[in-house]
Amino acid sequence: MHWLSKWLLVGSLAAWLSYYRHWTSQLVRTNTAGLSRIATSVANNTDSYQFLNRSQQINDSYFEFENIIYAHGLCGDLQVPSTKRPCTPVLHIHLNQIEFFTLLQGQLAYQLDDKVYSCNIHTCPQPLVVPPLVPHTFWMDDNKQDLIVRVRVESIKKDSGVRQGFFENLAGLLRDRHLSIWQIFVLFENAQTYPATLPLPLVKLMFKIGAPIGRLLGYKNEYKEYTTILEELK
Ligand SMILES: *[C@@H]1O[C@H](CO)[C@@H](O)[C@H](O)[C@H]1NC(C)=O
Ligand SMILES: *[C@@H]1O[C@H](CO)[C@@H](O)[C@H](O)[C@H]1NC(C)=O
Ligand SMILES: *[C@@H]1O[C@H](CO)[C@@H](O)[C@H](O)[C@H]1NC(C)=O
Repeated sequence: MHWLSKWLLVGSLAAWLSYYRHWTSQLVRTNTAGLSRIATSVANNTDSYQFLNRSQQINDSYFEFENIIYAHGLCGDLQVPSTKRPCTPVLHIHLNQIEFFTLLQGQLAYQLDDKVYSCNIHTCPQPLVVPPLVPHTFWMDDNKQDLIVRVRVESIKKDSGVRQGFFENLAGLLRDRHLSIWQIFVLFENAQTYPATLPLPLVKLMFKIGAPIGRLLGYKNEYKEYTTILEELK
């Protein structure tokens, strides 16, 4: 190729990239940092996250939140298959987290590995323990009441994996509808959380390649508009 066309190609790629990064940085992000309850939709008809025990999180030992799925909204529509409802996480695994789910209200359905269970506050394991690498998801199984699940997240390795900031940013991105595929790569790779719908080595490879591209395009795993600085709460 002629040197001039090479430089033109490199130049236009660089121009496009800087234009794209500018666009990413200009996305409007609602300021939700520091709120104890964050709704995942502006209409407030899906679910919300309520953060608890913030002071316990300073040492990254664990954190807790409650996920409240609204019976009256899109996620309480039992006609819609559970996997198609916006509040149902994709079946996923965490590399370095143990999660403890405690049902506080409603009828919970959950999948662990390839088994699906349904239970209420009398019959659910209290808590339901999800070890690292076990595929899981959950959803509302009847819409008589809002579903309230308390989730405790413990890292098995210090300084790695899911932080409270992950859920704050996830809720904010859902709310502002900015969860593009590149954003997903960056956010989930950082949290070492992967979909369990394809074999793990393949998914990890996709995320290992996708996350740096996402970062190059200007996506981050934490935005100041969404992320509570814990020191400020002390
Ligand atoms: C969202 O809806 C829930 C349940 O209806 C309600 O408790 C909560 O106060 C609402 N939040 C906002 C910010 O409107
Ligand atoms: C964590 O928050 C829950 C709910 O507010 C409370 O019952 C519990 O005592 C708290 N735990 C600690 C260690 O602060
Ligand atoms: C964090 O850890 C240090 C040392 O292990 C301890 O002294 C401190 O009390 C802990 N802080 C909290 C909030 O648990």
